Amino acid sequence: MKINLTTFEELHHPVYVLEESRLRRNLQLISQVSQAADAEIILAFKAFALWKTFPIFREYISATTASSLSEARLGYEEFGSRTHTFSPAYTDDEIDEIARCSSHLTFNSLSQWQRLADRAKTVNPSISLGVRVNPEYSEVETVLYNPCAPGTRFGVLNSQLPEQLPSSIEGFHCHTLCESGPDVFQRTLAHIEERFSKWFPQLKWINFGGGHLMTRNDYDTSLLISILQDFHRRYPHLHVILEPGSAFAWQTGPLVSQVVDVVENHGVRTAILNVSFTCHMPDCLEMPYHPAVRFARTIEEDAEGRIPDGQGEHIYRLGGCSCLSGDFMGRWQFDHELKVGENVIFEDMIHYTTVKTNMFNGITHPSLALAHADGELEVLRQYGYEDYRSRMD
Ligand SMILES: Cc1ncc(COP(=O)(O)O)c(C=O)c1O
Repeated sequence: MKINLTTFEELHHPVYVLEESRLRRNLQLISQVSQAADAEIILAFKAFALWKTFPIFREYISATTASSLSEARLGYEEFGSRTHTFSPAYTDDEIDEIARCSSHLTFNSLSQWQRLADRAKTVNPSISLGVRVNPEYSEVETVLYNPCAPGTRFGVLNSQLPEQLPSSIEGFHCHTLCESGPDVFQRTLAHIEERFSKWFPQLKWINFGGGHLMTRNDYDTSLLISILQDFHRRYPHLHVILEPGSAFAWQTGPLVSQVVDVVENHGVRTAILNVSFTCHMPDCLEMPYHPAVRFARTIEEDAEGRIPDGQGEHIYRLGGCSCLSGDFMGRWQFDHELKVGENVIFEDMIHYTTVKTNMFNGITHPSLALAHADGELEVLRQYGYEDYRSRMD
């Protein structure tokens, strides 16, 4: 089916629409940065894992990063290459299978390394082991996303590392950014080097984690390239890896939903949709952040949820179809009265959103679709009762 990629008027059910041309644009840029900076840039599955699109990714990148056994298997079996894996804690039950699926395995602590490194090497002798280090510097202000907050469970401090690393440790992994620009990386790198460069001669690789939002419009990719080129000049023996997630799927498509009802309470009008914030856009409530809605203007609310007088007509809260009282967000102004059946289009709902959804309340999950450049919509997946039922035996 051909669809209009501006209005999606042919759609009458909720769908996450991944737009191939936008995805390719991001992949192209990432692959150019990778070549110019001589850095391996790999996809973090935690942000995007729609595996039916992996053949497109394979045209531009050759590896992925996993944070669990399932992600490691997805990389090995569906992407077709062993993953760079980091988990805060591997279990005895899963380590063998994870090691089998991984080319690189990063431990979060020296105690995890001590318990499991030999076992991982026995299962997969070619695996390269590393540890996550914590530079105690992150500019991420939201505590939920700050891996260097005081008392954090992530990474080994420089004060905890022995002068001579165990010979099986070949790499350092460091993740401190979130939707950050290259200037933030530059300042962070100074702290990483200050605390950890004395161990660099003992390493083969360094992974600078995710959070490099290089596909955002205002991101200065030439600065990132020059930072990494300078780093290579200082440490020419180190293979550099970046593992962003968001950057790959940044602004690659919307969640298209439909109005099911409009209700009013004490002057607040809510358009109830056939999607849910808590089920299908959980980061909006978790971060929280206010999503952009196509053809609508955001109106700022005060702390009590009120809006300033004189904003005009057609102002709505948008409400989810779950029973959670807080499953709504406000407010948006449209240029007409919303009618049952019409589309409400939430922008940029692919990265993280599509991997974090749930089936709370048994609400039907939006379909997943890939829109090709000519407007042809390929439905990747539709969900129904069996999907809900099969999660819980
Ligand atoms: C260890 C690690 N690597 C990579 C990423 C991907 O980060 P982003 O999607 O912000 O680029 C994350 C995100 O939390 C992470 O924790």
